[in-house]
Amino acid sequence: MSPTYSEYLRLEELLKLQTGVEGETRKISNDELHFILVHQNFELWFKLVINELKCTSDILSSDYVEETKLPQAVHHMERVIETFKLMSQQWRVMETLEPQDFLNFRDELGTASGFESFQMREMEALMGSKWIDGKLVGKPESGKSLYDATCDWLERTPIQGSVYASEGDEKQVDKFISDYLSAHKKLYPDTNEEVVSFFDEDKSLRRRRAGLVFIESYRELPLLSWPRKLISTLIELEQAMILWRTSHARMVERMIGRRIGTGGSSGVDYLDMTTKYRVFVDLWAVRSILIKKDALPTLKNKEFYEFRGE
Ligand code: HEM
Repeated sequence: MSPTYSEYLRLEELLKLQTGVEGETRKISNDELHFILVHQNFELWFKLVINELKCTSDILSSDYVEETKLPQAVHHMERVIETFKLMSQQWRVMETLEPQDFLNFRDELGTASGFESFQMREMEALMGSKWIDGKLVGKPESGKSLYDATCDWLERTPIQGSVYASEGDEKQVDKFISDYLSAHKKLYPDTNEEVVSFFDEDKSLRRRRAGLVFIESYRELPLLSWPRKLISTLIELEQAMILWRTSHARMVERMIGRRIGTGGSSGVDYLDMTTKYRVFVDLWAVRSILIKKDALPTLKNKEFYEFRGE
């Protein structure tokens, strides 16, 4: 038998959960109901985001990512991005609570705080470790984060037609890097050192960064169109998260000023600091070292990057 709308969505159970921790024994105000509903809404969106991030990371975690799988990864990412954009707007609803009206029930929270949102921490771990003051913080406990999966995938980028780990690959990659450095030096002699140090790393990081520069530089090649789209969505996701964090901080500033948080942090100062975190550091960094198309090293093995039939 087909379920009813309410059965399918388990609405009866869902709509009983807005009472506060004491259940029906304490009558909550209209403002507190609003406060609980807004939080629960966010947590439901977090659930969606976690699921989509896992799907993306699963696709990118395989040792060989088929070209046909990339559109699916991008699709998952686009859903996450739209959800974050929507969540950034959702603070507006929270802001209809007046600061004094919040104080009327703030004590009920005790030390409870968004700080303790385990779904938030799971989202962060799934994205990848954050770089704070030059240090990696918060490695995921198990499985590959999106960041780690992306790094491994980038490292395998075919560069000038040279396939990862094939014979002579290291030489080809070195040649590409030195050609790129010369081309960059001609245009920007004053900032060339920055680019030299970008590549001056161990073999694996060097190849990964060369792969990233290669995709960003020869983006019009058919075989690179999905990889570059994926990189754009990773940047857009991080941007959307930063904007979401920023709009939360501004809402908090409006609501509690410079008071400390219920979780015990410094409040707005702490939240503003979290907007400085970056996960995809190289994806951001590469933007300051790109060069215009007609100055790029000559592309080799162009046919390698054409679409191929079965
Ligand atoms: C009146 C509304 C709100 C106020 C005044 C507020 C305030 C704060 C403050 C001060 C913090 C810093 C930690 C602490 O010391 O407590 C924080 C963290 C956090 N809040 Fe809110 N918040 C509000 C609404 C929300 C809502 C609706 C959500 C949605 C789930 C949310 C999610 C979070 C998260 C995830 C963190 C942890 C951020 C991090 O550590 O990166 N907050 N909040």
